[in-house]
Amino acid sequence: MPSPCLRSLPSRLVPLVLLGLAGLARSAPPARDVEPRVNELLARMTVEEKIGQLQQLDSVPNTWAIRDEHRDLASRGLVGSFLNIRGAKAINEAQRLAVEKSRLRIPLLFGFDVIHGYRVIFPTPLAEASSWDPAVAERAAGIAAAEAASTGLKWTFAPMVDIARDPRWGRIMEGSGEDPYLGSVLAAARVRGFQGDDPAAPDRVLACAKHWVAYGAAEGGRDYNTAELSEHTLRTTYFPPFRAALDAGAQTFMCSFNTIDGVPASANPFTLTKVLRDEWHFDGLLVSDYESIKEMIAHRTAADGADAARQALNAGVDMEMVSRLFAEHLPKLMEQGKVPPAKLDEAVRRILRVKFRAGLFEHPYVDESREAKVVGAREHRAAAREIAARSTVLLKNDGGLLPIKPATRAIAVIGPLADDPDAPLSHWRGDGRVEDTVTLFAGLRSKVQGRGDVQVTYAKGCDIEGDSVDGFPEAVRLARQAELAIVAVGESSAMSGEAGSRSSLDLPGHQLNLVKTIQATGVPTVVVLYNGRPLTIGWIADHVPAIVEAWLPGTEGGNALADVLFGDVNPGGKLPVTFPRTVGQVPIYYNALSTGRPAKADNRYTSKYIDLPSDPQFPFGYGLSYTRFELSSLTLSAKSIAPDGKLTVSVDVKNVGDRPGDEVVQLYLRDEVSSVARPVKELAGFRRVTLPPGGTQTVRFELGPDRLGFLDANLRFVVEPGQFQVTAGTSSVGGLTEGFEVAGP
Ligand code: GLC
Repeated sequence: MPSPCLRSLPSRLVPLVLLGLAGLARSAPPARDVEPRVNELLARMTVEEKIGQLQQLDSVPNTWAIRDEHRDLASRGLVGSFLNIRGAKAINEAQRLAVEKSRLRIPLLFGFDVIHGYRVIFPTPLAEASSWDPAVAERAAGIAAAEAASTGLKWTFAPMVDIARDPRWGRIMEGSGEDPYLGSVLAAARVRGFQGDDPAAPDRVLACAKHWVAYGAAEGGRDYNTAELSEHTLRTTYFPPFRAALDAGAQTFMCSFNTIDGVPASANPFTLTKVLRDEWHFDGLLVSDYESIKEMIAHRTAADGADAARQALNAGVDMEMVSRLFAEHLPKLMEQGKVPPAKLDEAVRRILRVKFRAGLFEHPYVDESREAKVVGAREHRAAAREIAARSTVLLKNDGGLLPIKPATRAIAVIGPLADDPDAPLSHWRGDGRVEDTVTLFAGLRSKVQGRGDVQVTYAKGCDIEGDSVDGFPEAVRLARQAELAIVAVGESSAMSGEAGSRSSLDLPGHQLNLVKTIQATGVPTVVVLYNGRPLTIGWIADHVPAIVEAWLPGTEGGNALADVLFGDVNPGGKLPVTFPRTVGQVPIYYNALSTGRPAKADNRYTSKYIDLPSDPQFPFGYGLSYTRFELSSLTLSAKSIAPDGKLTVSVDVKNVGDRPGDEVVQLYLRDEVSSVARPVKELAGFRRVTLPPGGTQTVRFELGPDRLGFLDANLRFVVEPGQFQVTAGTSSVGGLTEGFEVAGP
């Protein structure tokens, strides 16, 4: 076996290098040196005031006001942060308690889950990931930040950067899918969008990389469940997007609910201190998840609240979300010598540092006149419409059924998701309002407004779930009167997101029967999917001529889909996550290992199911267009490079169809032989290009040690000599392939 050539970098550098960090070098807030101010303030604080900064408290549910019992704590400087208080007036009022009444006047930090929009809701992060366009993610995060900041919020609990390979897990909708590289690029883009160059700017907020770490590896896809994986897998699959977020300047992290190697993430010295602080030198604050410190008692790794508080603070949690164990137990734990004063001081220092960097001491209050101008602005909705269209994936289009032909005069819009204003906003809808949502039916009617000759009718057909099929006859009647039936099916907002794990990936209720019934009328049928996660849609994929993956497209989803269905936008999205054929295939993801018996259809004794093909329904990176593209001239700058060398890979992409369109050129790397098994292929680069009919573009990628290397059995970063392959494709299946070698010493 060739000896490692790129002698090991300290493992702390691995995620940094693994990410193909071109341009992802760490960005930090302005050089405004806050340390002297932090230390001066810290020196004046009492132990009680220090412990107070570690406390984050919740608002009154539904009214989102500060709780009466918290007012006194805030005015005595015994709270560091609130979550879920909403509105500039309410936030300023709560802020005055701390800034004008407490002894040291330390401002409060107001946080909220602005996951994919504040009032204007963008497509879910998984949908945005389908755009394969970091500019989309950055733009959406920037608008969300501007709206949130105009209300006095200065912290969003986003981006969620958990890699997810199990679509039964409801929170797969909240991340960027199954690939560490795509997830890393998008994590960095979202942090840049939220924080900008300076999170103290009036239209920016602090980002929060969550959930640290491996929350998406929950066994069985069951939320909050055990994550059992090797350090090698942690470092190569789950860490990279967090490292990318950190290198993009993320000022906060949030730990996860799960255990890692049997140790809850809320008290895991390896992840919280060894990796995050000692290896990565993260100097911002780490907040627990919602009462996750208290949950250590339920994990049965803490005997009581005092034990949980001791473990969490000593392991590296700085701020406790909602539960009050730090407040209740730290004074005595410190008297008992179970928590060193230095641990408390370090946590407070990090919190003060982030507050200074957020500009809270200079500007603790928000200008209350801005909220009405910024929140829900027309230009934000226009951006949401563009981004939703750019995030749409065309999964099937047999016979060119789409885009809707100009001569079409009667369109039947059918299904429980066709006019549902709630689902498109998802479980994580921030301050989104159902009444703002443009549904598919509304978007289509709006599109044909003024064209008296076109009729768009609507029938729900059935509910998203439940036994009733009473609506089928009306749906069939309208379909029979139409030239085209568009059937919108999928999931409700509650069927994904937090605590939204499903044991089945099938369409709930009688939705599939509705599709079959409409298809059976013989009217040309398009299925539009509104879903938070990959679904198992085998019958639809086999029988329905056109399928559009809309995901949960946000406030402007209906207009965006109308743009796509009528061809005003040519869909160019690609799947950031694999669609399994059945839930029994899960986990199934493109960047899997070969195994010693790679699946062969004609050989029983290989790694496969005897009752199912081994390939997915739709692969990672897959998506169609209304035009067609061809790749050619895959060219490598060399056939052999040194281990620390770089390889330039170029490929031509041509629009061979009759309308402008986008293609996502994807570059995959395969290391033929390595000392530790590597995936059968690994995404190493991607570029979304727009081309006119007949247009050609040469796309270039540069591959260096950061992409060629991997973690060896000793967790050292190495580039091993040997044979490699690069494949340029338009999905993770197929493409043009060329080999090259990394030369030995
Ligand atoms: C929730 C989620 C977390 C969120 C937090 C505050 O339980 O796990 O992602 O940011 O609580 O709402």
